[in-house]
Amino acid sequence: MAVHQHQALDSKDTASRAITRAYSQTYQTYQYHLVVVAFIASLYGLYYQISGIYREYASRHSKHHHQHDMYFSSSITPPNATELPASSQSNYTKSVFLPYVHQFRTESVPLVWVTVHTGEKDVLIDMPIDTGSTGLLIGAPLLPGIDRNAGTRGCQYLSSSRIVYVGRYLDLNLTFHGVKGVTAETRVPVLIVDKSWVCPWYDPTKHGFECPLGPEGEEPMERDVSRITYMGVGFGRNKNAVGQRTATSWGNPFLNIDSINGTRLGPQELKAGYIVSTKGIQLGLTRENTQEFNFMVLGPGVTHAVDPRDWAMPLMQFRVNGRESIPGSALIDTGIPQMYIRAEDSMPLPEVIIKNPKEGGSPTVHRVKNGTRIAIDFGSSVKGELGETKASYSFEVGQSSLMAPSYVVPGKQEPPPYVNTGRNFLKGYSIAFDAVDGRLGFRPVQTIQSMI
Ligand SMILES: *[C@@H]1O[C@H](CO)[C@@H](O)[C@H](O)[C@H]1NC(C)=O
Ligand SMILES: *[C@@H]1O[C@H](CO)[C@@H](O)[C@H](O)[C@H]1NC(C)=O
Ligand SMILES: *[C@@H]1O[C@H](CO)[C@@H](O)[C@H](O)[C@H]1NC(C)=O
Ligand SMILES: *[C@@H]1O[C@H](CO)[C@@H](O)[C@H](O)[C@H]1NC(C)=O
Ligand SMILES: *[C@@H]1O[C@H](CO)[C@@H](O)[C@H](O)[C@H]1NC(C)=O
Repeated sequence: MAVHQHQALDSKDTASRAITRAYSQTYQTYQYHLVVVAFIASLYGLYYQISGIYREYASRHSKHHHQHDMYFSSSITPPNATELPASSQSNYTKSVFLPYVHQFRTESVPLVWVTVHTGEKDVLIDMPIDTGSTGLLIGAPLLPGIDRNAGTRGCQYLSSSRIVYVGRYLDLNLTFHGVKGVTAETRVPVLIVDKSWVCPWYDPTKHGFECPLGPEGEEPMERDVSRITYMGVGFGRNKNAVGQRTATSWGNPFLNIDSINGTRLGPQELKAGYIVSTKGIQLGLTRENTQEFNFMVLGPGVTHAVDPRDWAMPLMQFRVNGRESIPGSALIDTGIPQMYIRAEDSMPLPEVIIKNPKEGGSPTVHRVKNGTRIAIDFGSSVKGELGETKASYSFEVGQSSLMAPSYVVPGKQEPPPYVNTGRNFLKGYSIAFDAVDGRLGFRPVQTIQSMI
């Protein structure tokens, strides 16, 4: 029982069945680390750029892909491209809407219906949509039709949650269930998880497919893999790391829809990208469904040279009690209810230390102080500065308002700034990720409707 409880509390990979009242506190420790680790990983290039040692990074990007300042990109993107990329003139017409299984709520991760085809026995899963990460993990007991030995051995370690997943990579066919019986199909790599442990002392270079005893002879905590379902569909989060075949654009199910209703799509029919709202997921961007969106330009992601659909996190700038940060990156993360914010040294971010509301872990946690006013603006980069604002919002910490996160966790104060808005951002704006043209669009939610 205690084990189950921990699973629900410490990991993002758990299916709806395991989502408990504790969910709103689920990601406390995990996400903080995730933010730091993933942030460092995905802004690898930026760090190089900042420290002036960007040779290696640049050499991994072809000449065609923008120059060194591309992480904050629009200085080399023709301004007109922001408004009307070439491909928006073309004839992409196909799109499928996936409604959420449950009504969107601050407290829980949105789910969609997915059938996993295993050859013999198809399995319907309520699959969590996590825009804050990448990759698909499914516990082996959930897929009884798959041979216990099928696939290529693989293993993932999420240093954020200190969880090791050991299993087998297999390409699987998935069917997403849209409204009125419409379906969308894809085939992507999935890590089928045979074993999983919470393994704080795990060293990926040494320990391979096992979690050894801890330095003091501690037994690692083994997790119940029959409850592991996890679908990361984020952008700006990719890494082409060894053993992480799923954490790429070519492993992202939402970017690899190959048929609708079982009919194979032609090359110019479905534009790779998706809209995330509080109602569901719209797969495939068309001229009609993106009409009301205000788009900003994205820089290329770390694997952009390998897959041009990989884009970096959007640029943003925030104000804390009226004082403005330098530009940094943002993540709009459906996986969590809270916000993470990281300011540079010179930026005062009032903090308090409170008793950890979650059992286990450290006795106290940091929070941004109630009463702090936070305002965030999104926009394309113009010579490293934030250009025209494409979306903005503000709130006072501790006051409930439409888009306010459930609470705000401060990061270590060092540049560059970073914000994970948490899922409540979607209560104010729907977002459209255009993986073909490298844009992120914002459409204000009808507030009258959303207040009822
Ligand atoms: C943007 O488009 C306008 C009208 O089509 C054109 O006159 C202008 O030169 C373009 N600007 C750039 C920077 O390409
Ligand atoms: C779009 O479709 C029209 C009519 O079917 C066709 O004439 C045109 O060439 C197409 N445009 C592109 C960019 O494929
Ligand atoms: C998966 O889909 C491919 C076509 O993309 C098809 O050829 C194959 O038979 C399917 N496999 C299963 C197990 O459904
Ligand atoms: C897909 O199939 C459903 C149910 O059979 C049907 O209602 C729908 O019109 C079809 N959609 C497309 C785009 O073919
Ligand atoms: C902030 O205010 C909210 C609402 O009044 C309260 O529930 C919460 O405990 C406060 N948090 C802190 C860290 O003071």
